[in-house]
Amino acid sequence: MADKYIDFISGGFGKKLAKQLGLPQPVKLRRYEPNAPLVPGPVHVVSPDGAPLETLISAMGATAKSTLREGEKWGAVVVDLTGIAHPRDLSELVLALGGTLRGLATCGRIVTISRTPAGDVNQQAARAAVEGFLRSLAKELRAGATANGIMIADGVAIDSISVAGALKFLLSGRSAFVDGQFIRVSGEGSADPGRSLEGKVAAVTGAARGIGAEIARVLAREGATVVAIDVPQAGEGLAKTANAVRGTALPLDVTAPDAADQIYAHASERHGGLDIVIHNAGILRDKLLANMKPDKWDDLIAVNITAPLTMNERFVELAREGKLGESPRFISLASTSGIAGNRGQTNYGAAKAGLIGMTEALAPTLAEIGGTVNAVAPGFIETDMTASIPTVSRQIFRRTSSLQQGGLPVDVAETIAFLVSPAAGGINGTTVRVCGQNLVGR
Ligand code: NAI
Repeated sequence: MADKYIDFISGGFGKKLAKQLGLPQPVKLRRYEPNAPLVPGPVHVVSPDGAPLETLISAMGATAKSTLREGEKWGAVVVDLTGIAHPRDLSELVLALGGTLRGLATCGRIVTISRTPAGDVNQQAARAAVEGFLRSLAKELRAGATANGIMIADGVAIDSISVAGALKFLLSGRSAFVDGQFIRVSGEGSADPGRSLEGKVAAVTGAARGIGAEIARVLAREGATVVAIDVPQAGEGLAKTANAVRGTALPLDVTAPDAADQIYAHASERHGGLDIVIHNAGILRDKLLANMKPDKWDDLIAVNITAPLTMNERFVELAREGKLGESPRFISLASTSGIAGNRGQTNYGAAKAGLIGMTEALAPTLAEIGGTVNAVAPGFIETDMTASIPTVSRQIFRRTSSLQQGGLPVDVAETIAFLVSPAAGGINGTTVRVCGQNLVGR
C-alpha cells in the first residue's frame, strides 16, 4: 500500500505545512539502483588509525576523505571504536562524529565499528556503551539518514571480508530500512564475486506474494536460481513469482512432514542442488490469550515455528551428507513482535521468538558444516497483511519509527540477500532487525 503522506509532504506546499505544524517529515528513502553510487557523497573516517578503513572504502568505489568542498555533504561517516578500553575513551571519537552531523547528506549513513563486549570490566562497559550511544544517535538523525553498528568479535580483523561486506551493505541503499541496529561479525567470510549469488540455488517458502515474492526477486537479481514455494491454493501467485524470476514453482504446504525432502528433491532434480533456504512462510491468528482457541494457537505454531524446525533438522542432515553445497545458508523471518511482544499476538510472538532461539542454537552446527544460519526481524512493512490494519493504527505504526514510515518488502529482501552472500560468511546466529528503528524493543 502506498504511503500517500510521504507523497504529500514531498511537494513544496506539503513540506511547508508539515514544517509549520511540526508534523513528521519522512523522506523517500535511498534504495538500491543499478549503477548508482554506493553513498550520496564522500565518506569521512573517524579513527585513531583511519588507513585500513579508508582502503576498504576506496575498494568499494567510494571516496574516503577528511574535509568537504564548499557545498558538499558527507555521504557517510564511519567511526572506528574498536580500540576503546574505558567509556571515557569514547569522548574524542564521538564528539568528532558529532561535529560532522550537520554536514550529513539526505539518506546519509553513520556506521560505528566496535568490538563485541568482552575483556575486563572497564572494557566490557566501554564496548556495551557503544550500543546505547548508537541507538540514541539513530533516533536523532532525520531526512532518511540512518546509524548502524558493526560489532566484531575479538580475533576478527577490522578489514576482514565480512566486516567489509557488512560495511558495504550498511553504506548502500540496500540497508534503507535498517536503522539503530548492530550487525555482529564473528568470523572472516569469503570473497564476494561480482553477482554475489551466481550459481546458487535458493528455496523461498511463502513466495506467492508479499515479502516472499520480493525475496525471490532480489535473490534472482543477485544471480541465484529460485525455487518458489507456497501452498497449492496460492498457485496463481506462485506461478507469477516463479515466472518473473525465471525459477521454478513448488506447490507445497511447509507443514508436510517430508517438506524438506520434497524441497531438496525438487531443487536437485530441476537445478542440480540446493544452497540457500529462506523460511518466510508465516500466518497470523491474532487473538487475546483469554479468547485463544486451540486451533488458532496450534495452526500458527505448526506453520511459523514447527515447520522451520522440522525442515532445518532434515536440511542439517543433508548438509552433513555433503548434499547442500559448500556453504549452506538458512534464514528465518522473525518479527519485532517476537522481540518486544505485541497485544493479541501471544502465539505469533512465541513462534517468532522461537525462531530467534532456533537460529542461535543452530549456529554452532552450521559453523561446523561451513554454513550460516541467521534471522531477519521485520517491523512494519507495507504488505497485504499490514494493509488490513485499521487506518489510524497504521499511521501510528508508520510514524513512530525513526524513519517515520513503513518499510517495503524489498528492504527485508535486500537484508536477506546480503546475509546469504559469500561476504556474510562470518555472520552467524544473529537476528537483524529491518524496522526503521521502530519504538518497540531494542
Ligand atoms: P503474507 O501473508 O503476505 O505472505 C505469506 C505467504 O506464506 C503467503 O503467500 C501464504 O500463502 C504462505 N503460506 C502460509 N502458510 C503456508 C504454508 N503452510 N506452507 C507454505 N506457504 C504458506 O505475509 P508477509 O507480510 O509477506 O510476511 C512474510 C513473512 O514475514 C511472514 O513470516 C511474516 O510473519 C513475516 N513478517 C511480516 C511483517 C510485515 O510487516 N508484513 C512483519 C514481521 C514479520
